[in-house]
Amino acid sequence: MGMTSIIMYITIALLFLLLVTHTPKKPSNLRNRRIKIRNDFAFDPRHHHHEPVPFDPLVADIERKREDKEWERRYLENSHSELVHHSAAPGHESQPEGDDFMDAEDYLNDEEKFNVTNRLLVLFPKIDVEPVDGYVSEHELTEWSLKQSEKEVMHRTKREMDVHDKNHDGLISFAEYEPPSWVHNSDKNSFGYDMGWWKEEHFNASDADGDGLLNITEFNDFQHPADSKNPKLLQWLCKEEVRDSDKDGKVNFQEFFHGLFDSVRNYDEEGHNSSHLSDDSVEAPAKKLFNELDKDADGFLSDVELLHIIGKLHPSERYYAKQQADYILSQSDTDKDGRLSLTEMIENPYVFYSAIFSDEDNEYDIHDEFR
Ligand SMILES: *[C@@H]1O[C@H](CO)[C@@H](O)[C@H](O)[C@H]1NC(C)=O
Ligand SMILES: *[C@@H]1O[C@H](CO)[C@@H](O)[C@H](O)[C@H]1NC(C)=O
Ligand SMILES: *[C@@H]1O[C@H](CO)[C@@H](O)[C@H](O)[C@H]1NC(C)=O
Ligand SMILES: *[C@@H]1O[C@H](CO)[C@@H](O)[C@H](O)[C@H]1NC(C)=O
Repeated sequence: MGMTSIIMYITIALLFLLLVTHTPKKPSNLRNRRIKIRNDFAFDPRHHHHEPVPFDPLVADIERKREDKEWERRYLENSHSELVHHSAAPGHESQPEGDDFMDAEDYLNDEEKFNVTNRLLVLFPKIDVEPVDGYVSEHELTEWSLKQSEKEVMHRTKREMDVHDKNHDGLISFAEYEPPSWVHNSDKNSFGYDMGWWKEEHFNASDADGDGLLNITEFNDFQHPADSKNPKLLQWLCKEEVRDSDKDGKVNFQEFFHGLFDSVRNYDEEGHNSSHLSDDSVEAPAKKLFNELDKDADGFLSDVELLHIIGKLHPSERYYAKQQADYILSQSDTDKDGRLSLTEMIENPYVFYSAIFSDEDNEYDIHDEFR
């Protein structure tokens, strides 16, 4: 114990020194912009809000390495708490850890080392691919963002897989799988308890080939059903939506109107001034959609009938990628022709790093576009 605390103090002292020596060097002429590396990791899906993935894979890679470290630390703390000394002062843990963080952020903000113009020059031809025409379209931007986020999602799935795959055969059986601790600990009212998430039915639906085991693709689908193409899993997700309403296995119009329809509407209108409208003026479109979905016209929506809107009830990575693409376009398409030239990108470099760039004093506001 004595030894550990000495090491702790030395570490803290070193960290402090590092901070002090770095601070005066921090250039104040960075046009008020500084590339930030994400430092708040949410591993608990209940608190999950969608994090935009950095536009630049190089930055994503740095974040990923940092996230892995943090994840490992928390994993050890949760499952092998006997190995971890809780001697760190509260608040200490939320601080950036050591050299690599400081170095990485300084590196990204050192224009001689990380030249944003050059990065965009390198990235442009990788984005301008369908077709190669010297312009980046909304579609190309969306595909690019989607590719980055799929890489991110798969990376997290692999990490989860390493933990759950106890016999290391690259496959997960239901017995091997342990639901996240919050499923055990949750009381009856909290998210996930009375729903089927992380239960055997969810597992079985993810098992596309029905061999009783999940490979990495199936396990990724299991964790992200909304992004899956597996029809069994999508139908399971619809069933969960139906169960969500009043558990009678069907959704009547009132349940639809006061529940699911809101999600669909927000998705379509991106939640602008729809909330100011009176119930009457939305009831008609709700009724119209309900009748369209209610194929057998029995006055109820079944899970199968919900399949057509499941992508709107559970926004997919593609949805967020398009949002990010639209945001980028709105901020940097100077001549408003609906596409970006290399010049427009180079002239608005910060837009592409905006998920991590921030003005000094409104640090996290810039994320709001993506929420
Ligand atoms: C970044 O690269 C561009 C193009 O190669 C160059 O014109 C510019 O001077 C570089 N900036 C810095 C700060 O080195
Ligand atoms: C899941 O599938 C297995 C066979 O692979 C079966 O024995 C089990 O009953 C199924 N569970 C549920 C909840 O459907
Ligand atoms: C996992 O299994 C599915 C069939 O259920 C298959 O389509 C997919 O290619 C497999 N993934 C890998 C990485 O082998
Ligand atoms: C917002 O509401 C006003 C009046 O209620 C309407 O004229 C306008 O078109 C709406 N805007 C959008 C984006 O729906």
